Amino acid sequence: MSQLKCIIRGVGSYLPEETLTNSDLARIVDTSDEWIVERTGIRERHRAAPGEFTSDLATKAALAALKDAGLQPDDIDLIVLATATPDNTFPASAVQVQANLGIRHGFAFDLHAVCSGFVYALTTADAQLKAGLAKRALVIGAETFTRILDWTDRGTCVLFGDGAGAVVLEAVDADSHGERGIITSHLRSDGRHKAKLYVDGGPSTTQTTGHLRMEGREVFKHAVGMITDVIEASFAATGTTAADIDWFVPHQANRRIIDASVKKLGIAPEKVVVTVDVHGNTSAASIPLALSVAKADGRIQPNDLILLEAMGGGFTWGAVMLRW
Ligand code: ACO
Repeated sequence: MSQLKCIIRGVGSYLPEETLTNSDLARIVDTSDEWIVERTGIRERHRAAPGEFTSDLATKAALAALKDAGLQPDDIDLIVLATATPDNTFPASAVQVQANLGIRHGFAFDLHAVCSGFVYALTTADAQLKAGLAKRALVIGAETFTRILDWTDRGTCVLFGDGAGAVVLEAVDADSHGERGIITSHLRSDGRHKAKLYVDGGPSTTQTTGHLRMEGREVFKHAVGMITDVIEASFAATGTTAADIDWFVPHQANRRIIDASVKKLGIAPEKVVVTVDVHGNTSAASIPLALSVAKADGRIQPNDLILLEAMGGGFTWGAVMLRW
């Protein structure tokens, strides 16, 4: 059997209609636009409407990605949905997306790595396609984090938003499509850090959904080192350096984390895609959302070398390097 690699055929996203500005939040908790912008870079975020679920956001992003790829739902035989805010405890929201798209073949599952979910999902889909388990995958990050926020905790409720992004990943002959495709992936986790960023509920522990809890300073302290770790591993595995990257598309948690990582890695600031100002932190959705924005506005072009990274609850962290 010939060797396979995976290329990105299309990208799309969806944001709920309602936006919440920092001033809107200042009417809910004791905060201010100045404080939020200075500490996080966030100015506004989107919130899903009542009755609008993670699978709805994911379905809309998936349809946009299929349109961008010039493909139909039936062309897809694998759906990997990265989310920490599924519609229900089970079944996986991915099977709801499969049903919404009218797909009756292949398989679909959720993947849970919180903010690192998209890089985990992309890596997992890449491996499954290369193993011949499917031919074309929708890899989706979709979240409704506003549903798990404690709206009395100003330390967390100002940081997150809802949204979804998706890519269509296709297995092709490794010798085709020039240098395009996923080049290297590096995933890590360390469960000792669970208490620094978690949700204080769940089916097995409290039988409730719970709310997000975070030691912000502790997360900040670890983030830059962990991000640097997987990016340096990506450079080492490929013999590339920061100068070779066309676009750096980091998880959009906080402007200060992005700026500190970019500085430490020597990545030119003009190569960094930033959407945290208008999306907030959308967890697993943030990278495909940012990819979709940068593709739509013409920054990302075919054959560009792109570096994705994320770090989040667990802790989990990871990076993917690909040629668009
Ligand atoms: N508005 C006004 N004041 C606030 C707010 C707010 N929204 N939130 C906290 N404060 C206050 C605190 O109560 C505290 O007041 P005190 O000194 O009177 O006690 C003061 O601000 C400082 O609080 P800290 O938590 O120490 O503030 P810090 O400078 O660390 O900023 C922040 C907090 C923005 C959360 C920062 O720690 C951070 O960015 N951490 C990274 C966390 C992150 O991005 N998590 C996202 C999930 S993980 C991921 O996706 C990677």
